[in-house]
Amino acid sequence: MHSLTTRHLLGIKDLSTSDIELILETAKEFKEVINRPIKKVPSLRDITIANVFFENSTRTRLSFELAEKRLSADVINFSSASSSVKKGETLLDTVNNILSMKVDMVVMRHSSPGAPHFLAKNIKANVINAGDGTHEHPTQALLDAFSMQEKLGDLTGKKIAIIGDVLHSRVALSNIFCLQKLGAEVRVCGPATLIPKYFPELGIKVMYDVREALAWCDVANVLRIQLERQQLKYFPSLREYTLYFGINKKMLDELNKEIVLMHPGPINRGVELSSDAADSHHSIVLNQVENGVAVRMAVLYLLAQN
Ligand code: CP
Repeated sequence: MHSLTTRHLLGIKDLSTSDIELILETAKEFKEVINRPIKKVPSLRDITIANVFFENSTRTRLSFELAEKRLSADVINFSSASSSVKKGETLLDTVNNILSMKVDMVVMRHSSPGAPHFLAKNIKANVINAGDGTHEHPTQALLDAFSMQEKLGDLTGKKIAIIGDVLHSRVALSNIFCLQKLGAEVRVCGPATLIPKYFPELGIKVMYDVREALAWCDVANVLRIQLERQQLKYFPSLREYTLYFGINKKMLDELNKEIVLMHPGPINRGVELSSDAADSHHSIVLNQVENGVAVRMAVLYLLAQN
């Protein structure tokens, strides 16, 4: 099969395993393209894409913009902080006004879970979820899986630990759906207060000892403590969090095995990861960012066919 079963990318939950495999295979080809001296292809010439960001972003926004430009699309960027949303304009009015300028695809980040699903029901353009609140971040999961495959090959039976603030993380849920569909075994690790109560129903084992989680896994995907989403106190202090769940290079070196360290960014250096761990030979954090462009090119290219 050479096309996706969907016209939108709203979450990994809705993708079939063959959809995921097609995106990852296509991304391999685009990674070759962006490493050539001439990095641009004409695939999306005459397609116009709006990047509509209602929440802050560095990696995702820049990566989508670069992916779109590498595919020769026309690109417009919208940031709610400097827009008429500040004057009270609704989400649908905002997007319909952008679409009236003949936009074909919308890449949207929003703090409300389900906002891209709402948009997909109400507009004709293809919609790509660039992160909706604490729900899903599908392109992050795809670039994470791509980066893991580059290091480990086939992910069937590979052991992946997702460590940290799982409760507030859209990366965790998308990673779990993606990795399970690719045959990996996924566990989560963190303080009990930062693990959703329904996780055992997803077939996910919860670990509370970070050293045990590191000893178990092939890949540690470490999550940021998202203080901006925490209305309650989930742990006594950042210092105490770091004492019990922070990861440093010595802990990784002492494992006496190969371990791949990942983080979606932005990193709270000195909290969930020490600088010496984040910058160590175990870490593939910057490879993840590089792969994000190729994976997003694949997503945009494939959705534009539907
Ligand atoms: N990983 C990620 O989504 O980073 P940004 O918030 O900077 O886009």
